[in-house]
Amino acid sequence: MSFHPVIVIETVEEERVEVLLNKAVNDLQMAMFDWSIAQGLVRSQGNIHARWTNEYAPPGTIRPSALENTTEPLDMLKHIQDMSFKAIYLLKDFAKHLDDAAVARQFREIAHQFSLNRSAIVITGDAITLPRDIAHDVVYFPLKLPDQDELYQVISEVTRSLQGRIKVQLQKQDVPPLVRALQGMTLKQAKKVIAYAALEDGALSTQDIGRILQRKAQVIHEEGLLDYISVENNTALLGGFSGLKQWLARAKVGFSPQAQAFNLQPPKGILIVGIQGCGKSLAAKTIAREWKMPLLKLDAGRLYNKYVGESERNFRRAVSLAESMAPAVLWIDEIEKSMGVSDTDADGGLSRRLFGYFLTWLQEKSQEVFVVATANDLSRIPPELLRKGRFDEIFFVDLPDPQERAIILKIHLQARNQSLEHFDLTELVQATDGFSGAEIEQAVITALYRAIYEQQPLDTPMLVTEIKATTPLSISRREDLHQLRAIAQGRFVNVK
Ligand SMILES: Nc1ncnc2c1ncn2[C@@H]1O[C@H](COP(=O)(O)OP(=O)(O)OP(=O)(O)O)[C@@H](O)[C@H]1O
Ligand SMILES: [Mg+2]
Repeated sequence: MSFHPVIVIETVEEERVEVLLNKAVNDLQMAMFDWSIAQGLVRSQGNIHARWTNEYAPPGTIRPSALENTTEPLDMLKHIQDMSFKAIYLLKDFAKHLDDAAVARQFREIAHQFSLNRSAIVITGDAITLPRDIAHDVVYFPLKLPDQDELYQVISEVTRSLQGRIKVQLQKQDVPPLVRALQGMTLKQAKKVIAYAALEDGALSTQDIGRILQRKAQVIHEEGLLDYISVENNTALLGGFSGLKQWLARAKVGFSPQAQAFNLQPPKGILIVGIQGCGKSLAAKTIAREWKMPLLKLDAGRLYNKYVGESERNFRRAVSLAESMAPAVLWIDEIEKSMGVSDTDADGGLSRRLFGYFLTWLQEKSQEVFVVATANDLSRIPPELLRKGRFDEIFFVDLPDPQERAIILKIHLQARNQSLEHFDLTELVQATDGFSGAEIEQAVITALYRAIYEQQPLDTPMLVTEIKATTPLSISRREDLHQLRAIAQGRFVNVK
């Protein structure tokens, strides 16, 4: 294995990097130093628990002091160049200082020197971009989100540090669900959430799991890339789609221990294409619900939000979060919008690159992350994606048939506390010919508004009036629908 004097770790979790490095230097019998522009260069104490206990330690706890004259990047670099023993230097948020020519020059000299004497520099920070002449001398190390062991550690460390202030009311079997509830958060977030949940009522118990899940949904949403729907909050009710449901029931065994014992790969994912409002999104939610897995929704538009960061990096982060919560369902809604073929290529091939990255990941992923991609516009989907073997299956959603319309009508009437015996379902099914599920739901809602306004109970004639007043997409966009059907015919599996 080759030796790399400069390692870049993109993360906001500096503490975790410190813990990892401290372990490494202990094993390698090396010294370790920390640097930040606020603190200067500090010899690390090698106590990997110091960080955690410090946060709850009484004020005035002694912290190690910095070496003199080492806050300025150039001074610090000169300082470490003169050190004669092997060490690891953790430089926090250092990348931006490399834009300075003198700093960059000094840095490269040290990198060369370190490649001979086997010291190393580790640079951490969120979203790191290095000057090009430095970038190709470094190795990037992806820091995954905390695994179960690390989260377990956090629980025991937080409870230890809060000893006397909280009661721990956890049985042995309560711990795994608690750990699972924390998956997908950084250690810092996890620690805060547990401490908060415990301090709020003076106890850490299974009751806190719901609160932790809620907090996690918030945390993930605030990150800006994914939305998280826990199994507990997933209430999707999908009518019809019996073909898809059957497929899912069979595919589920792919996640079982037996499948694992036979070296079978778990299913990778599916693509669902079809016209608007026919339940594609609802299907994605239903899959997570049926499989009792957390659902993570990737918002295509947000990948390109420059305020959130560069799109490939964003995608990597999203995927890594999903992997940390595996087994999980990753739902990429309207995939053609983030990775599709654009008419203009105005994005400089960005969506193509992202798409390439996605394909590789899909092919090679080892974690149990099941992808559900949905799409409206087949013409914008790169043909490679439709090739056999990319997805386990490609499903086509057509307009609901009479039987499905009956189920959809029932779902939406019941969801709004209407008793079904007041309605002539046969007539309603007939009237909604050519309607999508979304259009059926909308008709029910509008008719109910009207019923309230007219102070009458909703009945069949009122609903029919509303239905007749609607022009469904299947008429206004008949051509698109025909085209989609023609392409899907014989190539994709019908969800029915
Ligand atoms: N099969 C169905 N069963 C029950 N409800 C349905 C069904 N199809 C559609 N609906 C209703 O229509 C709404 C819109 O459906 P959904 O968002 O899943 O459609 P979509 O195919 O993803 O549409 P779009 O292409 O606009 O994203 C749903 O929230 C649901 O209330
Ligand atoms: Mg949708």
